[in-house]
Amino acid sequence: MAEYTLEVTTGSMLRAGTSDNLYVTLIGTERQSERTELISFGFDDNTERVGTYSVTTLFSLGCLLFLKLEKDPFHESTEKDWFCSKIVVKTPEEDEILFPCHRWLSRGESVLLRGGRATKASEDLHPLLTEQRKKELVQQKLTYKWDEYADGMPYILNINDPKHVPREISLSFSKAFQFRYIREASSAELKLKGLTDSSEPWESFEAMKGFSWFKKSPFTEYVSQHWKDDDFFGYQFLNGGNPNVIQRCTKLPPTFAVTEEIVRPFLANGSSLTAEMKKGNIFISDYKIVEGLPTRVIDGKPAALTAALCLLYLNPEKKLMPIAIQLGQQPSGENTVFLPSDLESDWLLAKIFVRHADTLYSQVIYHLHNTHLLAEVFTMATLRNLPMIHPLHKLLIPHHRHTLHINIMARALLYGPGRLLGNTSLGVNGVTELLRRGLSQTTYASLCLPQNIAARGLESIPNFYYRDDAMRLWSITNSFVKAMVAYYYPSDSEVLADSELQEWIREIFYYGFLGNGDSGIPSSFQTVEELVKFVTMVIFTSSVQHAALSSTQFDFLGWIPNGPTLLHQAPPTTKGQSSMEAILVTLPNKSTAGLAISALWLLSRKYDDFVPLGTYPEQRFAEPAALQMIKDFQEELSSLSVAITERNSELELPYYYLNPKDIENSVTI
Ligand code: FE2
Repeated sequence: MAEYTLEVTTGSMLRAGTSDNLYVTLIGTERQSERTELISFGFDDNTERVGTYSVTTLFSLGCLLFLKLEKDPFHESTEKDWFCSKIVVKTPEEDEILFPCHRWLSRGESVLLRGGRATKASEDLHPLLTEQRKKELVQQKLTYKWDEYADGMPYILNINDPKHVPREISLSFSKAFQFRYIREASSAELKLKGLTDSSEPWESFEAMKGFSWFKKSPFTEYVSQHWKDDDFFGYQFLNGGNPNVIQRCTKLPPTFAVTEEIVRPFLANGSSLTAEMKKGNIFISDYKIVEGLPTRVIDGKPAALTAALCLLYLNPEKKLMPIAIQLGQQPSGENTVFLPSDLESDWLLAKIFVRHADTLYSQVIYHLHNTHLLAEVFTMATLRNLPMIHPLHKLLIPHHRHTLHINIMARALLYGPGRLLGNTSLGVNGVTELLRRGLSQTTYASLCLPQNIAARGLESIPNFYYRDDAMRLWSITNSFVKAMVAYYYPSDSEVLADSELQEWIREIFYYGFLGNGDSGIPSSFQTVEELVKFVTMVIFTSSVQHAALSSTQFDFLGWIPNGPTLLHQAPPTTKGQSSMEAILVTLPNKSTAGLAISALWLLSRKYDDFVPLGTYPEQRFAEPAALQMIKDFQEELSSLSVAITERNSELELPYYYLNPKDIENSVTI
């Protein structure tokens, strides 16, 4: 007789257990076991339960190939899904084999698990393994189908209704519950305060402060006190919600009507714009990308959106100060260059138009397109092309957690008319067109932080905490990926020969970047080095870059004048005509502000099932070498976390958004 001992672990999340009957069949190279019930499993449906069971056979099964797990199709109790984390099998030959599962099983469902070392297709020598590997991908391609969302945009999963999301990629019960609770509480508050349908402008800035009973943070208090300050305005280009646009300026765009004379008063004594440019102290934020976009029509009037140009100066105190703003790309009599010496309300209004363009640019392109939609493409390519036993599936799948479900919800809740993005100056059509422009300008280099920072000339600008933290994170992630990839791909020829991997990148190139070779995105991998860089970018984009954009939202935009998503009045074309009252009429009205703050509050929460970067609670790798690499990665992240906390303790405004313990492993909100 041969005895196999099975240790079966149920997930730790809410409602993970089941009282249904469960069966296993072990399939080996020589023979397979009887379908064996996990006796008494059905009497204990506790979360996080570890049960030990025995499967007995007359002879050894040979090398174990599969473990078939089934949930009883016939049971009298109410149906309840089961989350199986993993099964560890101890064989008569004293081997211990990990069969990772980490998925929900519904009544009547069965799953064929692979155990042991991660393998590429070429390493599966048994015909049953090869056949099953192909079958798994055929099934995955039927479940996860590409769909074209709109012409010129990355492809998406073809599921529109959040109710139809497959169980294995759906949000946890706790997250879904918390999300719904916060949403309903926010909505109830808006109704109680009469802000749901109010098209009234705010009476005063003071009135805005009392907007919500609970949607506040110490940071938004700070912003509400400092949003008019030029140094805080400049600070946000580096460490606010959008550190992606600013670049060093070595030559003014020909359309920017700035002259030496008009900016001289704002430079250090005796200096000139040309001299400061040579020293590398002049920077520019250019919003040309929004030029000519369609905007929403409200009461017969198109909402305002300007393709602003903002010039900034790094002064001797190392503060980045705005020194000139042009509200449009073409210089003309109508395009006055606004200056810090202008009437306070003129200068403030000009800065509000810059913040408006910056907020929409950031939310639509850098947040929605460059993290959410690209992360969806990466997730789809992994689910469709890399079987569960593939080393890159095991490495990447934790960084794809919840991404498809949250994007389906985003499409249902954010994009449409009356939703957050539909309610902006852009409206639905403007958002779609901006997303198209986003894809056409996105290059591989822009997604790889070291190249991005170098291309923008930002390697040495001081007090750029986003860059400092993100570059360390890129480097730590890159070292981890390098070690993992080198372990499974000892040579370039192994990369070239991996047809599943080549299909993975081919789908990303065609469905994510529409086959645009000019983007620099590879359509195949030739070397280990190319693969390491790309996988680093995928993990960085899905975790670090998303955190930099997502976690900052409420802090910087929760004070509406600092990040308006809609402006009701056209930009000023002459000086001396504005007033604080005119600014209040220009800013979002009460219901638009209410909807925006509620959505930002919902999207900036840290939910109970938060999984920090580098934390892999679902064990997928069994190889000691891989487990050691994960441990090294975690230690590096932990050291960085300590260093960031120390650095922040000395800052007036701590930058904590990229502390590894506060970065989520994937795009989940
Ligand atoms: Fe997000």
